[in-house]
Amino acid sequence: MSHIPVMLPEMLDHLAPRDGGKYLDGTFGGGGYAEAILAHATCTLWAIDRDPEAIARGAELARNFPGRLHLIHGGFGDMLAVLNEQGVTSLDGIVLDLGLSSFQIDDARRGFSFRADGPLDMRMSRTGPTAADLVADLSETDLADTLFQYGEERLSRRIARAIVAARAEAPITTTGKLAAIIRGVMPPARDGIDPATRSFQALRIRVNDELGDIVRALAAAETLLNPGGRLVVVSFHSLEDRLIKRFFADAAGRAPSPSRHDPRGLAARSVARFKLLTPRALRPRESEFLKNPRARSARLRAIERLPHAEVFAP
Ligand SMILES: C[S@@+](CC[C@H](N)C(=O)[O-])C[C@H]1O[C@@H](n2cnc3c(N)ncnc32)[C@H](O)[C@@H]1O
Repeated sequence: MSHIPVMLPEMLDHLAPRDGGKYLDGTFGGGGYAEAILAHATCTLWAIDRDPEAIARGAELARNFPGRLHLIHGGFGDMLAVLNEQGVTSLDGIVLDLGLSSFQIDDARRGFSFRADGPLDMRMSRTGPTAADLVADLSETDLADTLFQYGEERLSRRIARAIVAARAEAPITTTGKLAAIIRGVMPPARDGIDPATRSFQALRIRVNDELGDIVRALAAAETLLNPGGRLVVVSFHSLEDRLIKRFFADAAGRAPSPSRHDPRGLAARSVARFKLLTPRALRPRESEFLKNPRARSARLRAIERLPHAEVFAP
């Protein structure tokens, strides 16, 4: 079992680590990005992961780069506090590679996969309520809203109704059982995508408060980055990418302020604090996703902190 890093050359190109610099990898995972950054420049890297297993696996890599890799267990949304505790108040670059590692997806015991049966868990950090707790406790409306908001599932109400009916008979505690309930009320997939995909994504996002952590991380990154410092984010679905795209546009002074008197948003613009390094999201090359299908939906975006805040002049 291993994790193949996604868009690794593109990530390095945009992070551009340099000797003597201080960097943060907010999603250590299998350590593929971390190792590449440490090998690329004689820099210091702090690496966070909310999964205790990922941090434990990283010990060997830390031994290979003595004094240069500092592993921290925690959520990247708390990066400001976590780094301050280590005496770090500024950085030259931050990278986030969102979502799950193959270690997590491929281990049925973690409960992320609807392909293999396992406990309905889905907690990256192994703390707090599990997906089984949500499925047992949420009201039908809250369940439906969760599936719709975080999974963009059009048939969310139908699925929520089926879950509530099934749980009245017996608790839903395994991924296999939940997937079977969902498949039982969905039309056959025409696109080859398992009908449980969107619902599983939704529960995973809610269990781990994934979007909340991204919002907190983007704000913290703005505080931490030195002039010239870069933020590189690789995302895997449209909900994440939309958040990042909007934040980056605003940080680069490109987000028009919504106004009914100024429908084109030309009058007031946000102040540019960053330069947009990727006007459009970069996608993986075909040769990459043919070898690693998990790379297929990846999008990479990057920004660089400007020396001084400048008002964007259109
Ligand atoms: C796609 S993997 C990263 C892979 C890594 N770039 C590599 O090359 O091996 C994502 C990792 O980020 C972690 N993660 C996801 N959301 C997180 C969060 N909010 N805070 C901290 N870690 C998070 C997951 O536990 C997982 O190990």
